[in-house]
Amino acid sequence: MEKRLREIEEEALAAVQNAAKEELEELKIRFLGRKGELTTILKGLGSLPAEQRPVIGKLANMVKKRVEKAISERLQALASGSGPMAIQGFDPTLPGRAGFPGHLHPITKVMNQVCAIFERMGFSVAQGPEIELDFYNFEALNIPADHPARDMQDTFYIDSKVLLRTHTSPIQIRTMEKISPPLRIIAPGKVYRCDSDVTHTPMFHQVEGLMVDQGIAFADLKGILTHFAQEIFDPKTKVRFRPSFFPFTEPSAEIDIQCVICRGEGCRVCSQTGWLEVLGAGLVHPAVFRHVGIDTEKYSGFAFGLGIERIAMLKYGINDIRLFYDNDMRFLSQF
Ligand code: PHE
Repeated sequence: MEKRLREIEEEALAAVQNAAKEELEELKIRFLGRKGELTTILKGLGSLPAEQRPVIGKLANMVKKRVEKAISERLQALASGSGPMAIQGFDPTLPGRAGFPGHLHPITKVMNQVCAIFERMGFSVAQGPEIELDFYNFEALNIPADHPARDMQDTFYIDSKVLLRTHTSPIQIRTMEKISPPLRIIAPGKVYRCDSDVTHTPMFHQVEGLMVDQGIAFADLKGILTHFAQEIFDPKTKVRFRPSFFPFTEPSAEIDIQCVICRGEGCRVCSQTGWLEVLGAGLVHPAVFRHVGIDTEKYSGFAFGLGIERIAMLKYGINDIRLFYDNDMRFLSQF
């Protein structure tokens, strides 16, 4: 009988040591419950020989106390969060929480796609400063101080000679100052204009293109931009060149693509015209070449500028440009 009591104690203490909270309840019933072996022994004390009764009785009570103590200590340990598996409510068998992989911003994605298309056609990437001199942003691009074309762009001035660039065209000048033709570059970057509504944000992205060589004609510009439009939208996209004006190109054109929403039928997005403007372009004005010392008799070139946000809005069917910069994850995580 004594031996059996020691076994019960050993077994119970071992089980309690690593038990979870729910298991403790079961152990309590098994070892201390009314039908448990310990209780049975205690109840049956009367039938034991008289000299054994006090010994076994004392021992059985001791075992009972020790098991009770072990259970309550274990409960406490679980509640206070110590012990190996003791963190309350922690189930090590549950699958782990999935990671949250980041992704590129839709503007970055479209920017990369646009650059990749031109890089495949042999253009290399050039860069320039966002804080720019009046000279590069306007003067050298054939927009002198009191030229009315300055009103086309609402400029953020830092002082009378320094400003936030209003377009990526100053990179044309910076490139031609450094590299002599033949040259073929694109210049992606942020530009700034004091303007804000559903189709304008004070900061947006442009990609400038410039190609200078002997014998460059308007046909080259047409071919390259048509190919670009069909790559970025779809191969059946129709393209239209409309006469326009920029001080730094002559002749100048604005390039429309057939509306990607209504396919030319006429809808709200294209103001019922069936066409959407996506690019400004033209042949480099001789006055611009003169500013950088390129021989206008020998060389000619074309330049173009496109707005990345505009292309992203058309590609993804987004009707408010400001969504790109609200940083709302519900919007951004769709891309
Ligand atoms: N810089 C012009 C703009 O921002 C776009 C342009 C670039 C037009 C190059 C012609 C040639 O509106």
